[in-house]
Amino acid sequence: MIHARIAGTGSCLPGEAVTNDDLVARGIDTSDEWIMTRTGIRARHFAAPGVTASELALVAARRAIEAAGCATEDIDLVIVATSTPDYIFPSTATLVQDGLGIRNGGAAFDVQAVCCGFVYGLAIAEKFIASGSHRRALVIGAEVFSRILDWSDRATCVLFGDGAGALVLEASAVPGVRATALHADGGHHSILCVPGSIADGKVTGDPFLRMDGQAVFRFAVKVLGEVAREVINRAGVSHESIDWLVPHQANIRIIQSTAKRLGLPMDKVVTTVDRHGNTSAASVPLALDCAVRAGQIRAGQRLLIEGVGGGFTWGAALIDF
Ligand code: UT7
Repeated sequence: MIHARIAGTGSCLPGEAVTNDDLVARGIDTSDEWIMTRTGIRARHFAAPGVTASELALVAARRAIEAAGCATEDIDLVIVATSTPDYIFPSTATLVQDGLGIRNGGAAFDVQAVCCGFVYGLAIAEKFIASGSHRRALVIGAEVFSRILDWSDRATCVLFGDGAGALVLEASAVPGVRATALHADGGHHSILCVPGSIADGKVTGDPFLRMDGQAVFRFAVKVLGEVAREVINRAGVSHESIDWLVPHQANIRIIQSTAKRLGLPMDKVVTTVDRHGNTSAASVPLALDCAVRAGQIRAGQRLLIEGVGGGFTWGAALIDF
Protein backbone atom coordinates (compact mmCIF):
# COMPACT_ATOMS: atom_id res chain seq x y z
CA MET A 1 0.00 0.00 0.00
CA ILE A 2 1.27 3.50 -0.85
CA HIS A 3 1.00 6.11 1.90
CA ALA A 4 1.44 9.90 1.73
CA ARG A 5 3.77 11.64 4.18
CA ILE A 6 4.63 15.28 4.77
CA ALA A 7 8.26 15.79 3.72
CA GLY A 8 8.58 19.53 4.38
CA THR A 9 6.66 22.71 5.14
CA GLY A 10 7.08 26.39 4.29
CA SER A 11 5.24 29.68 4.56
CA CYS A 12 5.28 33.35 3.64
CA LEU A 13 3.88 36.44 5.34
CA PRO A 14 4.06 39.65 3.33
CA GLY A 15 5.27 42.96 4.76
CA GLU A 16 5.12 44.17 8.33
CA ALA A 17 2.51 43.21 10.92
CA VAL A 18 -0.48 45.58 10.94
CA THR A 19 -1.85 45.86 14.48
CA ASN A 20 -5.41 46.60 15.53
CA ASP A 21 -4.27 50.07 16.57
CA ASP A 22 -2.80 50.55 13.08
CA LEU A 23 -6.29 49.85 11.65
CA VAL A 24 -7.77 52.46 14.00
CA ALA A 25 -5.06 54.90 12.83
CA ARG A 26 -6.12 54.15 9.23
CA GLY A 27 -9.62 55.38 10.08
CA ILE A 28 -11.51 52.14 10.73
CA ASP A 29 -14.18 52.60 13.39
CA THR A 30 -12.99 49.84 15.73
CA SER A 31 -10.75 49.24 18.74
CA ASP A 32 -8.03 46.85 19.84
CA GLU A 33 -10.26 45.87 22.76
CA TRP A 34 -13.25 44.92 20.52
CA ILE A 35 -11.15 42.90 18.07
CA MET A 36 -9.13 41.12 20.79
CA THR A 37 -12.17 40.24 22.88
CA ARG A 38 -14.29 38.94 20.00
CA THR A 39 -11.61 37.25 17.91
CA GLY A 40 -8.20 37.07 19.64
CA ILE A 41 -6.62 38.86 16.66
CA ARG A 42 -3.81 41.30 17.49
CA ALA A 43 -2.25 41.76 14.05
CA ARG A 44 -2.27 40.58 10.46
CA HIS A 45 -0.14 41.10 7.32
CA PHE A 46 -1.20 42.72 4.06
CA ALA A 47 0.49 42.24 0.70
CA ALA A 48 1.72 45.44 -0.96
CA PRO A 49 -0.29 46.62 -3.98
CA GLY A 50 0.47 44.43 -6.97
CA VAL A 51 1.79 41.46 -4.94
CA THR A 52 -0.21 38.40 -5.98
CA ALA A 53 -1.23 35.10 -4.41
CA SER A 54 1.13 33.22 -6.73
CA GLU A 55 4.09 35.31 -5.53
CA LEU A 56 3.35 34.48 -1.88
CA ALA A 57 2.73 30.85 -2.87
CA LEU A 58 6.10 30.66 -4.63
CA VAL A 59 8.02 31.82 -1.56
CA ALA A 60 6.18 29.32 0.67
CA ALA A 61 6.68 26.56 -1.91
CA ARG A 62 10.43 27.15 -2.20
CA ARG A 63 10.76 26.96 1.60
CA ALA A 64 8.74 23.73 1.73
CA ILE A 65 10.83 22.17 -1.05
CA GLU A 66 14.04 23.17 0.73
CA ALA A 67 12.75 21.64 3.98
CA ALA A 68 11.78 18.46 2.11
CA GLY A 69 15.22 18.28 0.53
CA CYS A 70 13.74 17.11 -2.77
CA ALA A 71 14.41 18.19 -6.33
CA THR A 72 11.85 20.64 -7.70
CA GLU A 73 11.66 18.61 -10.89
CA ASP A 74 10.43 15.60 -8.88
CA ILE A 75 7.17 17.41 -8.03
CA ASP A 76 4.52 15.95 -10.31
CA LEU A 77 1.44 17.57 -8.77
CA VAL A 78 0.86 21.20 -7.73
CA ILE A 79 -2.39 22.10 -5.99
CA VAL A 80 -3.09 25.67 -4.88
CA ALA A 81 -6.06 26.41 -2.66
CA THR A 82 -7.10 30.03 -3.07
CA SER A 83 -10.13 32.28 -3.35
CA THR A 84 -7.99 35.20 -4.45
CA PRO A 85 -6.21 33.84 -7.56
CA ASP A 86 -4.00 36.04 -9.73
CA TYR A 87 -6.33 35.60 -12.69
CA ILE A 88 -9.69 34.09 -13.57
CA PHE A 89 -7.48 31.73 -15.56
CA PRO A 90 -4.92 30.20 -15.87
CA SER A 91 -4.87 28.68 -12.41
CA THR A 92 -2.51 29.99 -9.75
CA ALA A 93 -1.08 26.46 -9.55
CA THR A 94 0.17 26.64 -13.14
CA LEU A 95 1.83 30.00 -12.38
CA VAL A 96 3.56 28.43 -9.37
CA GLN A 97 4.62 25.43 -11.44
CA ASP A 98 6.13 27.80 -14.01
CA GLY A 99 7.75 29.97 -11.32
CA LEU A 100 9.45 26.91 -9.88
CA GLY A 101 10.68 25.93 -13.32
CA ILE A 102 8.93 22.55 -13.27
CA ARG A 103 8.86 21.24 -16.84
CA ASN A 104 7.99 17.57 -16.23
CA GLY A 105 4.40 17.78 -17.49
CA GLY A 106 2.91 17.01 -14.07
CA ALA A 107 -0.58 18.14 -13.11
CA ALA A 108 -1.35 21.58 -11.65
CA PHE A 109 -4.73 22.98 -10.64
CA ASP A 110 -6.47 25.23 -8.12
CA VAL A 111 -8.96 24.17 -5.48
CA GLN A 112 -11.76 26.52 -4.44
CA ALA A 113 -13.15 25.67 -1.03
CA VAL A 114 -12.42 29.05 0.60
CA CYS A 115 -11.04 28.69 4.15
CA CYS A 116 -11.23 24.88 3.90
CA GLY A 117 -9.36 24.87 0.60
CA PHE A 118 -6.05 23.65 1.98
CA VAL A 119 -7.69 20.68 3.71
CA TYR A 120 -9.46 19.86 0.43
CA GLY A 121 -6.14 20.16 -1.43
CA LEU A 122 -4.33 17.93 1.02
CA ALA A 123 -7.04 15.26 0.87
CA ILE A 124 -6.99 15.32 -2.95
CA ALA A 125 -3.18 15.07 -3.04
CA GLU A 126 -3.24 12.16 -0.58
CA LYS A 127 -5.65 10.28 -2.85
CA PHE A 128 -3.55 10.93 -5.97
CA ILE A 129 -0.45 9.62 -4.19
CA ALA A 130 -2.22 6.62 -2.63
CA SER A 131 -3.56 5.66 -6.08
CA GLY A 132 -0.02 5.54 -7.46
CA SER A 133 -0.74 8.13 -10.16
CA HIS A 134 1.58 10.74 -8.59
CA ARG A 135 4.56 10.54 -6.25
CA ARG A 136 5.31 14.02 -4.93
CA ALA A 137 2.79 16.83 -4.46
CA LEU A 138 3.12 20.45 -3.52
CA VAL A 139 -0.02 21.55 -1.67
CA ILE A 140 -0.33 25.28 -1.07
CA GLY A 141 -2.83 27.65 0.50
CA ALA A 142 -2.26 31.23 -0.68
CA GLU A 143 -4.42 34.31 -0.26
CA VAL A 144 -4.47 38.07 -0.74
CA PHE A 145 -7.80 38.51 1.06
CA SER A 146 -7.05 42.21 1.57
CA ARG A 147 -8.11 42.65 -2.10
CA ILE A 148 -11.70 41.53 -1.44
CA LEU A 149 -12.29 43.37 1.85
CA ASP A 150 -14.73 46.26 2.11
CA TRP A 151 -12.81 48.70 4.31
CA SER A 152 -16.08 50.43 5.25
CA ASP A 153 -17.43 47.17 6.75
CA ARG A 154 -15.74 46.99 10.15
CA ALA A 155 -17.43 43.68 10.95
CA THR A 156 -15.31 41.92 8.30
CA CYS A 157 -12.25 44.02 7.35
CA VAL A 158 -10.59 43.61 10.77
CA LEU A 159 -10.70 39.81 10.60
CA PHE A 160 -8.59 38.84 7.59
CA GLY A 161 -4.98 38.92 6.44
CA ASP A 162 -2.73 37.80 3.57
CA GLY A 163 -0.20 34.96 3.43
CA ALA A 164 0.70 31.54 2.11
CA GLY A 165 1.62 28.14 3.49
CA ALA A 166 2.83 25.05 1.66
CA LEU A 167 3.85 21.46 2.16
CA VAL A 168 5.43 18.70 0.14
CA LEU A 169 3.53 15.43 0.37
CA GLU A 170 5.32 12.35 -0.94
CA ALA A 171 4.77 8.65 -1.46
CA SER A 172 6.02 6.54 1.43
CA ALA A 173 5.89 2.99 2.75
CA VAL A 174 5.13 4.45 6.21
CA PRO A 175 1.69 5.92 7.03
CA GLY A 176 1.50 9.74 7.14
CA VAL A 177 -1.97 11.05 6.28
CA ARG A 178 -4.05 8.39 8.05
CA ALA A 179 -7.57 9.68 7.40
CA THR A 180 -9.33 12.59 5.74
CA ALA A 181 -12.93 13.78 5.64
CA LEU A 182 -14.40 16.43 3.35
CA HIS A 183 -17.90 17.88 3.43
CA ALA A 184 -19.98 20.66 1.92
CA ASP A 185 -23.50 22.03 2.26
CA GLY A 186 -24.26 24.54 -0.47
CA GLY A 187 -27.48 25.49 1.31
CA HIS A 188 -25.38 27.89 3.41
CA HIS A 189 -23.62 29.64 0.51
CA SER A 190 -25.05 33.06 1.30
CA ILE A 191 -23.72 33.45 4.88
CA LEU A 192 -20.12 33.88 3.67
CA CYS A 193 -19.52 34.93 0.08
CA VAL A 194 -18.18 37.39 -2.47
CA PRO A 195 -21.32 37.55 -4.61
CA GLY A 196 -19.86 39.28 -7.66
CA SER A 197 -18.96 38.11 -11.14
CA ILE A 198 -17.22 39.51 -14.18
CA ALA A 199 -18.96 39.75 -17.53
CA ASP A 200 -18.71 42.05 -20.53
CA GLY A 201 -15.71 43.79 -18.98
CA LYS A 202 -17.63 44.76 -15.83
CA VAL A 203 -18.11 43.50 -12.29
CA THR A 204 -21.71 42.47 -11.79
CA GLY A 205 -22.95 42.23 -8.20
CA ASP A 206 -20.74 42.79 -5.17
CA PRO A 207 -16.96 42.28 -5.37
CA PHE A 208 -16.45 42.34 -1.57
CA LEU A 209 -16.56 39.67 1.13
CA ARG A 210 -19.93 39.54 2.93
CA MET A 211 -20.54 37.55 6.07
CA ASP A 212 -23.24 36.83 8.61
CA GLY A 213 -20.70 36.50 11.44
CA GLN A 214 -22.96 34.90 14.02
CA ALA A 215 -24.37 32.32 11.60
CA VAL A 216 -20.83 31.43 10.50
CA PHE A 217 -19.70 31.17 14.11
CA ARG A 218 -22.51 28.75 15.06
CA PHE A 219 -22.02 26.62 11.95
CA ALA A 220 -18.22 26.47 12.36
CA VAL A 221 -18.33 25.35 15.99
CA LYS A 222 -20.81 22.57 15.20
CA VAL A 223 -19.13 21.07 12.11
CA LEU A 224 -15.53 21.37 13.33
CA GLY A 225 -16.31 19.24 16.37
CA GLU A 226 -18.14 16.67 14.21
CA VAL A 227 -15.49 16.35 11.50
CA ALA A 228 -12.66 16.09 14.04
CA ARG A 229 -14.37 13.13 15.66
CA GLU A 230 -15.02 11.64 12.22
CA VAL A 231 -11.33 11.51 11.21
CA ILE A 232 -10.27 10.29 14.66
CA ASN A 233 -12.72 7.39 14.33
CA ARG A 234 -11.83 6.74 10.70
CA ALA A 235 -8.12 6.55 11.56
CA GLY A 236 -8.90 4.27 14.50
CA VAL A 237 -6.81 6.31 16.94
CA SER A 238 -7.61 7.70 20.38
CA HIS A 239 -8.14 11.38 21.27
CA GLU A 240 -5.31 11.04 23.77
CA SER A 241 -2.82 10.09 21.04
CA ILE A 242 -3.20 13.47 19.30
CA ASP A 243 -0.18 15.68 19.95
CA TRP A 244 -1.38 18.79 18.12
CA LEU A 245 -4.61 20.25 16.82
CA VAL A 246 -3.83 22.62 13.92
CA PRO A 247 -7.19 24.29 13.26
CA HIS A 248 -8.27 26.93 10.79
CA GLN A 249 -7.29 30.25 12.36
CA ALA A 250 -10.45 32.37 12.18
CA ASN A 251 -11.33 33.19 15.76
CA ILE A 252 -9.77 32.11 19.07
CA ARG A 253 -13.23 31.47 20.54
CA ILE A 254 -14.05 28.96 17.76
CA ILE A 255 -10.65 27.29 18.30
CA GLN A 256 -11.15 27.08 22.08
CA SER A 257 -14.62 25.65 21.62
CA THR A 258 -13.35 22.94 19.24
CA ALA A 259 -10.51 22.02 21.60
CA LYS A 260 -12.96 21.77 24.49
CA ARG A 261 -15.32 19.53 22.52
CA LEU A 262 -12.38 17.23 21.76
CA GLY A 263 -11.12 17.29 25.34
CA LEU A 264 -7.79 18.75 24.19
CA PRO A 265 -6.00 21.28 26.43
CA MET A 266 -5.03 24.55 24.69
CA ASP A 267 -1.33 23.73 25.07
CA LYS A 268 -1.91 21.05 22.40
CA VAL A 269 -3.44 23.57 19.99
CA VAL A 270 -1.40 25.57 17.49
CA THR A 271 -2.65 29.17 17.44
CA THR A 272 -1.45 31.89 15.10
CA VAL A 273 -4.73 33.79 14.73
CA ASP A 274 -3.40 36.42 17.14
CA ARG A 275 -0.60 37.41 14.75
CA HIS A 276 -1.93 36.35 11.30
CA GLY A 277 -5.68 37.02 11.53
CA ASN A 278 -7.75 34.82 9.24
CA THR A 279 -5.72 34.07 6.08
CA SER A 280 -8.42 31.74 4.69
CA ALA A 281 -6.89 28.84 2.73
CA ALA A 282 -3.41 29.82 3.94
CA SER A 283 -4.24 29.66 7.63
CA VAL A 284 -3.71 25.94 8.33
CA PRO A 285 -0.42 25.49 6.40
CA LEU A 286 0.88 28.79 7.80
CA ALA A 287 0.12 27.67 11.35
CA LEU A 288 1.61 24.24 10.64
CA ASP A 289 4.86 25.69 9.30
CA CYS A 290 5.19 28.19 12.16
CA ALA A 291 4.79 25.38 14.70
CA VAL A 292 7.29 23.16 12.87
CA ARG A 293 9.90 25.91 12.61
CA ALA A 294 9.34 26.91 16.25
CA GLY A 295 10.18 23.32 17.24
CA GLN A 296 6.68 22.70 18.65
CA ILE A 297 5.65 20.07 16.09
CA ARG A 298 8.28 17.36 15.73
CA ALA A 299 8.75 14.26 13.58
CA GLY A 300 6.70 11.32 14.77
CA GLN A 301 3.95 13.39 16.35
CA ARG A 302 0.25 13.01 15.54
CA LEU A 303 -1.65 16.00 14.13
CA LEU A 304 -5.30 16.79 13.57
CA ILE A 305 -5.83 19.57 11.05
CA GLU A 306 -9.22 21.00 10.19
CA GLY A 307 -10.90 23.78 8.29
CA VAL A 308 -14.27 25.37 7.61
CA GLY A 309 -15.16 27.97 5.03
CA GLY A 310 -17.58 29.51 2.58
CA GLY A 311 -19.77 27.21 0.58
CA PHE A 312 -20.15 25.95 3.25
CA THR A 313 -17.21 23.55 3.19
CA TRP A 314 -15.52 21.75 6.03
CA GLY A 315 -13.00 18.96 6.50
CA ALA A 316 -10.22 17.46 8.57
CA ALA A 317 -7.17 15.22 8.31
CA LEU A 318 -5.45 12.98 10.85
CA ILE A 319 -1.72 12.93 10.12
CA ASP A 320 1.35 11.24 11.55
CA PHE A 321 4.05 13.84 10.97
O1 UT7 B 1 -13.25 31.40 8.03
C1 UT7 B 1 -14.50 31.63 8.59
C2 UT7 B 1 -14.64 33.11 8.64
N1 UT7 B 1 -15.41 33.75 9.60
C3 UT7 B 1 -15.47 33.53 10.95
O2 UT7 B 1 -14.96 32.63 11.52
C4 UT7 B 1 -16.25 34.53 11.71
C5 UT7 B 1 -17.18 33.93 12.73
N2 UT7 B 1 -17.87 34.99 13.46
C6 UT7 B 1 -17.23 35.74 14.37
O3 UT7 B 1 -16.06 35.54 14.65
C7 UT7 B 1 -18.02 36.81 15.07
O4 UT7 B 1 -19.38 36.71 14.72
C8 UT7 B 1 -17.50 38.23 14.74
C9 UT7 B 1 -16.15 38.43 15.40
C10 UT7 B 1 -17.38 38.43 13.25
C11 UT7 B 1 -18.45 39.29 15.28
O5 UT7 B 1 -18.67 39.10 16.66
P1 UT7 B 1 -20.13 39.16 17.26
O6 UT7 B 1 -20.03 38.99 18.70
O7 UT7 B 1 -20.96 38.17 16.48
O8 UT7 B 1 -20.54 40.66 16.94
P2 UT7 B 1 -21.80 41.22 16.12
O9 UT7 B 1 -21.60 41.06 14.66
O10 UT7 B 1 -23.06 40.70 16.73
O11 UT7 B 1 -21.69 42.76 16.46
C12 UT7 B 1 -21.82 43.23 17.82
C13 UT7 B 1 -21.59 44.72 17.84
C14 UT7 B 1 -22.43 45.49 16.84
O12 UT7 B 1 -22.80 46.71 17.46
P3 UT7 B 1 -24.27 46.90 18.09
O13 UT7 B 1 -25.22 46.68 16.95
O14 UT7 B 1 -24.39 45.86 19.15
O15 UT7 B 1 -24.24 48.29 18.61
C15 UT7 B 1 -21.47 45.79 15.73
O16 UT7 B 1 -21.80 46.97 15.01
O17 UT7 B 1 -20.23 45.00 17.51
C16 UT7 B 1 -20.18 45.99 16.47
N3 UT7 B 1 -19.00 45.74 15.66
C17 UT7 B 1 -17.81 46.31 15.90
N4 UT7 B 1 -17.42 47.19 16.84
C18 UT7 B 1 -16.12 47.56 16.83
C19 UT7 B 1 -18.88 44.93 14.58
N5 UT7 B 1 -17.62 44.95 14.13
C20 UT7 B 1 -16.94 45.81 14.94
C21 UT7 B 1 -15.61 46.23 14.98
N6 UT7 B 1 -15.24 47.09 15.95
N7 UT7 B 1 -14.68 45.78 14.11
